[in-house]
Amino acid sequence: MPIDAANPVPPNLPRHVGMDQIPDHVPSDLVRQSGLTVGPEFLAGPHDFMAALHHKQPPIYYDVSPMGNMWHLTKHEDALFGLRHPDIFSNEGATPFPRDPNDYFYFIPIEIDPPHHRKYRNIVDPVFSPKGVLKLEELIRRRSNDLIDAIEAKVAAGGTCEFTEDFGRPLPVSVFLDIMGLPQAMRDTFVEWAMELLHSNDRAIMGQAMAKITAYLKEAIAEKKAHPDDGVVSLIAHAEPDGVPLSDKEIFGFVCFLFIGGLDTVFATLNNIWLWLAQNPEKRQEIIDRPEDIDRIVEELLRRWSVTFSGRVLDRDHEMRGVQMKKGDRVTFILPACNFDPEVFPDPMTVDFDRPRKTILAFTVGVHSCMGGHLARLEVKIALQEWLKRVPNFDLQPGTRIEYRPGGVIGPEAVPLVW
Ligand code: HEM
Repeated sequence: MPIDAANPVPPNLPRHVGMDQIPDHVPSDLVRQSGLTVGPEFLAGPHDFMAALHHKQPPIYYDVSPMGNMWHLTKHEDALFGLRHPDIFSNEGATPFPRDPNDYFYFIPIEIDPPHHRKYRNIVDPVFSPKGVLKLEELIRRRSNDLIDAIEAKVAAGGTCEFTEDFGRPLPVSVFLDIMGLPQAMRDTFVEWAMELLHSNDRAIMGQAMAKITAYLKEAIAEKKAHPDDGVVSLIAHAEPDGVPLSDKEIFGFVCFLFIGGLDTVFATLNNIWLWLAQNPEKRQEIIDRPEDIDRIVEELLRRWSVTFSGRVLDRDHEMRGVQMKKGDRVTFILPACNFDPEVFPDPMTVDFDRPRKTILAFTVGVHSCMGGHLARLEVKIALQEWLKRVPNFDLQPGTRIEYRPGGVIGPEAVPLVW
């Protein structure tokens, strides 16, 4: 029976962790400890690690990890099938973020399966549609240029530019605050909370961050209920799908998931791309020289630098490539690996702006395909255009060691630049 998001209950789904919790139906020759998101080899070069899965591991293997045991799927074709079959691969209970079982809520829309899922998407899809996000173009340009002004002033005064801190994180947050109808004064605090929640190895810090985010968002929702405006928080707070207002838990679960889904993913994408731009001057020049191809350039960069995964739970037994998976098994589609599937994207690690057009999986496909995908594409496009206009030549600061932290969204911690 589909879950009732107005009256949430914690899912009763087993989470298996460690070698002694491998279900009996998993063949021993498919068990691996790949180290995805946590191991030293992954952290030394996450995208190379995920590309190598295609020759180091079978296309479907059972990964045993401190983060939880689950099937990993790396083939593009299998991901297209799984992500387009929510009746088999369910989202209910598939999200890793812990919540207080005594004050439980669902992350909306990500944890809701069809048919209920659509009613939530209908509320906000017009804002995030290709036409809807075009209205934000001038604003994103202005926010980008304000940040570059500040960076140039800092560099002129003898300071240095650390891309993630000066541009990669503040740009998406300031655009997000504008869309949500929240004050720009919260920009640095939101960056701090997002980093504590999504990039800390310390569960106490994550819990404290979640408590701060919850308190702030609940207050903001109450304020918008009393004083409606045209931001997304107000839109959700006043929505009445099928003539019924959303419950407080639905409103909070929706607004809170936008915070989780809409910030770190864009930070990581920009930070990955700028690290690569700093190391590839000829590609920078190619982007500058081909302004008419900017959309296909962005698409290829999103393929090469995709940053996250899709987690699902099997809603029934299902066999793929001769591997028998059972109802209740957890599954992760390794989207960056799917974007490096050599059968679909030959020579996958090369950035080639002239690749034949294929479905990229950076934003997933199917009912849960990223609601912010058009916004994210526009942010990356405008950031590239405005930055390269003003700072066409830059390098990574000599001697920099790039570091990644474990987590479900992959991007470098810091990208110090010089020019
Ligand atoms: C480059 C940036 C982004 C990337 C790579 C990204 C990636 C993804 C992926 C892979 C999913 C599907 C997860 C799954 O299948 O389990 C997703 C879902 C989602 N994303 Fe994004 N995202 C980005 C930006 C954004 C932004 C800017 C927003 C909103 C402001 C956003 C809001 C959402 C929402 C609400 C969902 C859930 C959709 C649903 O369940 O129907 N994302 N995103």
